[in-house]
Amino acid sequence: MKILIVGGGGREHALVWKIAQSPMVKKVFCAPGNPGIAEIAECVDIDAENIDGLYNFALKHKIDLTVVGPEDALIAGIVDRFREGHLQIFGSTKRASAIEGSKVFAKTLMRKHGIPTADFKVFEDIKQAKKHMTTCEFPLVIKADGLAKGKGVFICKTPEEANKHLDDIMRDKIFGHAGDRVVVEEFLSGEEVSILAITDGNTLLPLSSVQDHKAAYDGDKGPNTGGMGAYSPVPLITEQLQFSIEENILVPVIHAMKRENRPYTGVIYAGLIITSTGPKVLEFNARFGDPETQVLLMRMKSDLVPILLSAEKNTLENAGIEWNDGTSLCVVMASKGYPDLYEKGFPISGLETTRKLTHVQVFHAGTSMKDGKIVTNGGRVLGVTTLGKDLQEAQQAAYGAIEKLSFAGAHYRRDIGGKAMHRKN
Ligand code: AMP
Ligand code: GLY
Repeated sequence: MKILIVGGGGREHALVWKIAQSPMVKKVFCAPGNPGIAEIAECVDIDAENIDGLYNFALKHKIDLTVVGPEDALIAGIVDRFREGHLQIFGSTKRASAIEGSKVFAKTLMRKHGIPTADFKVFEDIKQAKKHMTTCEFPLVIKADGLAKGKGVFICKTPEEANKHLDDIMRDKIFGHAGDRVVVEEFLSGEEVSILAITDGNTLLPLSSVQDHKAAYDGDKGPNTGGMGAYSPVPLITEQLQFSIEENILVPVIHAMKRENRPYTGVIYAGLIITSTGPKVLEFNARFGDPETQVLLMRMKSDLVPILLSAEKNTLENAGIEWNDGTSLCVVMASKGYPDLYEKGFPISGLETTRKLTHVQVFHAGTSMKDGKIVTNGGRVLGVTTLGKDLQEAQQAAYGAIEKLSFAGAHYRRDIGGKAMHRKN
């Protein structure tokens, strides 16, 4: 088979790495890819949002299956376009991707179908939103409705802070039309967990539990990022809790989407918070998480390709997934300043050395090639991902590998997996 992966970050590097190991696969392409991906697949210079370009490429090269990484391509309708042309593609349609593309849609769906989530109100009018603030308890959370590159969520401790963010989003339109509406919601406390599942719209195949670390600095301090590291499985998620998440969140959301005439296929990612009264949904994403996918694929024993194909062919009921018993862990090495302004173009050293390590994969997230050298080219630069017999071993391997890697201003969290370590002790 010939497979095309769309995207060029750490998630896509992990997908390419896993898919290229399948005995069913002869050739893997990645658009646009990155220098790490280029070592194991053929990178094609087409942007992930260039749906026409990707479609024409897949047609010309007789691609058997396309797998989509980033949400923008899904929300722009790449799956619809490929299916209209009878090309196989793994992902959700434009209508189904609204679950990620619009927080108002997702929250309204959850309320209508009894899926546990924070209490909320939607506002289209800034005056009314501000009036509501005078009646609220703080902290509370303000979310821009549309996609805002992961920056549209604000935890506000005071009414003044809330009013400032409302001005930014609704009056000054810092996120453009994504800020035409806002969700104002109750603040929830508890540990965050990501549960992903593959679905053909009828059957759900849940993946193992993962915990991301969203804040930029140790101890969950600093601004939220795309994710600074992750590990899997998460001891907090007992079998019973995993089952309750499937029964009360994942199955109902797939059912709800069907009822709303937005049948859902591909991967559904539930961002959850485990509160004292049980798991509640913070958000749904219509794509594989990053860095979640790096740790999940490191642990997955099964061939991913037949699973993706059965989701596309509506035969997922016959599929299963086997996992390695150990723990996988990923530490993200980021550019100094990320998630705010950062410089790029710094040479990365140590990649040759870490390549020789066993049970270590250094997935490239934001890298590029300059004068024959691999340099930094994004906020999140590398995902140093390991597999160990337990959390401690995986953690030691990751931090050991990081010591061998360097670039100017490299920043990473030193406490990835820390919450699970403390729970065990
Ligand atoms: P979201 O994009 O909706 O997942 O929000 C991004 C991040 O903001 C989450 O990963 C949480 O860390 C935080 N967050 C969002 N909603 C809430 C909430 N209702 N209570 C507490 N934290 C939240
Ligand atoms: N790691 C968070 C995300 O993929 O949205």
